[in-house]
Amino acid sequence: MATRVKRKVRIKKKNFAVFLAFIMFFAFSLYEIGFVIYKVITTTPREPEIEVRKPKKNTVKEEIPEYDKKLKKLNNVNQKVSYFWPENIDRYIKYKEKNKKMDDIQIVKNVNMNLDLTPYEDTFKALYLEKPNVLVNKYYYLAEDYIPANLEKISVRYALSGARMVSYAKNAFEDLASDAQKEDLNIVAMSAYRSYDYQINLYNRYKNQDGMEAADSYSGRPGHSEHQTGLAVDVYNEIENYTDFEETEEFSWMQENAYKYGFILRFPKDKEHETGYIYESWHYRYVGKKIAKYIHEHDISLEEYIATH
Ligand code: DAL
Ligand code: ZN
Repeated sequence: MATRVKRKVRIKKKNFAVFLAFIMFFAFSLYEIGFVIYKVITTTPREPEIEVRKPKKNTVKEEIPEYDKKLKKLNNVNQKVSYFWPENIDRYIKYKEKNKKMDDIQIVKNVNMNLDLTPYEDTFKALYLEKPNVLVNKYYYLAEDYIPANLEKISVRYALSGARMVSYAKNAFEDLASDAQKEDLNIVAMSAYRSYDYQINLYNRYKNQDGMEAADSYSGRPGHSEHQTGLAVDVYNEIENYTDFEETEEFSWMQENAYKYGFILRFPKDKEHETGYIYESWHYRYVGKKIAKYIHEHDISLEEYIATH
């Protein structure tokens, strides 16, 4: 009888020890998992959320009957589109006076794209700075000392040595180039992030070579090149000159696939009046997968996307 009791106690002790060991193992595993998660969060720069324009109510400070009269001139287009920006109302009207036959929705879009203004004269700070949807063009500029956060070198497997992009765009580009390589296609970054000072030299070289008007059609002035955002990349296939990229199989692949990785062809054919630049088959811009898909499916420029969202 006494032996049985002793055995029972021994078994209970053993069970308790196993239970304790299990608890300790469980706690340790939780700690390990937590540590790994903490490391991932703190060491991998995350892609920032895109920023969207907050819908504004009528912010124009004037008597309501005055404002309503203006809306009437625009055939109450504010009721038809979500991207009627009240602060632009006088510009819409002025633009409509100069473009009497233009559809009201197109008037709103064009003014939101600043097509009523003078490039490089009427300028504003870049929209959505540090976000994947940052807008830099002949109206929106970056400061001389602006350097994007988290620039990283693109692997030399997919880039000329030293080419850098913002880390999340770099990762997306490497995925893209790596998948293209699996199909024996060679997509190589030849120019990615460019500093303000670098762009001064580049633009001046083009200006001296081709004259200002021509240079302005294909090169951003310092502060107005989106290469300074670290989200733009010029590519080639190492065989053809980059200006002939359109003729390559790599280009066809990019046409089909770039958006899946978050990239868009930034200066498409027939969009020169919106983007301000001639067609560049080699210049791609990271905007994130969601926006890239939308732009791809609707065949619009980044300018039109921003003007309507
Ligand atoms: N080639 C493009 C427009 C740039 O210089 O940013
Ligand atoms: Zn470029």
